[in-house]
Amino acid sequence: MKISKICCIGAGYVGGPTMAVIAKMNPNIQVTIVDINQERIDAWNDKDVSKLPIYEPGLAEIVAETRGKNLYFSTEIDKAIDESEMIFISVNTPTKTYGKGKGMAADLKYVELCARNIADVAKTDKIVVEKSTLPVRTAQAIKSILHNTGSNVKFDILSNPEFLAEGTAIQDLLNPDRVLIGGESEEAIEALANIYGSWVPQDQILRTNVWSSELSKLTANAFLAQRISSINAISELCERTEADVSEVARAIGMDSRIGSKFLNASIGFGGSCFQKDILNLVYIARSYGLNEVADYWEQVIILNDHQKRRFSDNLISTLYNTVSGKKIAMLGWAFKKDTNDTRESAAIYVADHLLSEQANIAVYDPKVPSKKVYVDLNYLQTRSEDENKALVETFDDPYEAVKDAHAIAIMTEWDEFKTYDWKKIFNLMKKPAFIFDGRNILNKDEMTEIGFEYSSIGK
Ligand code: NAD
Ligand code: UGA
Repeated sequence: MKISKICCIGAGYVGGPTMAVIAKMNPNIQVTIVDINQERIDAWNDKDVSKLPIYEPGLAEIVAETRGKNLYFSTEIDKAIDESEMIFISVNTPTKTYGKGKGMAADLKYVELCARNIADVAKTDKIVVEKSTLPVRTAQAIKSILHNTGSNVKFDILSNPEFLAEGTAIQDLLNPDRVLIGGESEEAIEALANIYGSWVPQDQILRTNVWSSELSKLTANAFLAQRISSINAISELCERTEADVSEVARAIGMDSRIGSKFLNASIGFGGSCFQKDILNLVYIARSYGLNEVADYWEQVIILNDHQKRRFSDNLISTLYNTVSGKKIAMLGWAFKKDTNDTRESAAIYVADHLLSEQANIAVYDPKVPSKKVYVDLNYLQTRSEDENKALVETFDDPYEAVKDAHAIAIMTEWDEFKTYDWKKIFNLMKKPAFIFDGRNILNKDEMTEIGFEYSSIGK
């Protein structure tokens, strides 16, 4: 089956970059990305591509190249569904904040709304692709909704989880380690494999049953996050024993069975998915009565929360057990470099803890807008919006942010932080001038030489 029109419901961090790359690599396929969020669609359509809603290296160039040719952004969801042969569901699947499974299970209401929307609108046969990360066996629910419309429309459901990481999304999409397609209908699987086949070698396109595909996505994220919690656990031991976590990571990473990637000790992982997907995995395991399995994975989250907390605890105790009225400059607010995404960023939780100790927080991030910092803190509802406004200030210039600060906390590993004039920064700060390097990006000897009281993770 040859596909000529596809649509993607959800113009977010996955839908936007993924469809932009599919459009670039398949000039003969018309790709329409739809969303209920008018503001987001308007930003995707902004003539000035520097104003796209998502910052990803290389994304603006691809959008500029394809938009209006075979890539379109729209809020006309029904029209796009009606016209397309293949529909990707790429909406958010956050952790439930209410009812059964609150705080653990994935909230599938947006996915279900998409399925119902497709069921209502479709007049011709469709291939429906789960691109969102979903609990294993979700395809069953989608199938049940789509197959009970009373019409003669045939729906094939595929699972095609996305493995891109933010900050490297375009590179990850252009050179994926693998593409995973789970499904029943061979014809539908091959139709999707053909689309990827225009740039991904066939032997890297894996075909599995739907359930393996759904579960592989949760498993991949759980394994990745587990590596970070493992090295972070060792970082605490390093701090007590004069071992150096970077040296340990290097030494174990050279064992090809372990591998060298994803072993950077940090303030703890953030991002929209690791925590949500592991909580979901834990919830699923418990719902099958697999308590040991659930406890095993839950420990990854427990350790991550501990790592964030001990970073702020250490900062407070080093500053003579009080940060009340002290200015703490936070460099970085995004959950990692090269993205404007702040979801579950460790910076939010560290700031919240310091604010509860009455610190004044100054934030500088090269890509995160000021209002996002306040939205993130207000969302926690730890204190009033007015209090957050009074205690937190954001800056467009890092040198302004650090002026008269008692301490700097490095929260994100932005490359530009390494290039700053650290002597000048030292002179601008109150003395003793402390640096808490949550990303181990600065050189301890150089910082100490300048005069800083420098501490990092796992050293
Ligand atoms: P996102 O919040 O950035 O985007 C989701 C979009 O869907 C939003 O713009 C929202 O308005 C839209 N939406 C919600 N309900 C809708 C509806 N009924 N109709 C039309 N639009 C609707 O989310 P994201 O980061 O792109 O993540 C999407 C999915 O992909 C999640 O399941 C996530 O776990 C998974 N995933 C994310 C990443 C990542 O790096 N962010 C990577 C791999 C997988
Ligand atoms: C992660 C996975 O890497 C992707 O494969 C997956 O598709 C995606 O989740 C998803 O499902 O959403 P992402 O969260 O965008 O991607 O970014 P990562 O590079 O995985 O970083 C996640 C967090 O871990 C960041 O806060 C990062 O700073 C931290 N991290 C990463 C470490 O602390 N140490 C490391 O060694 C690596």
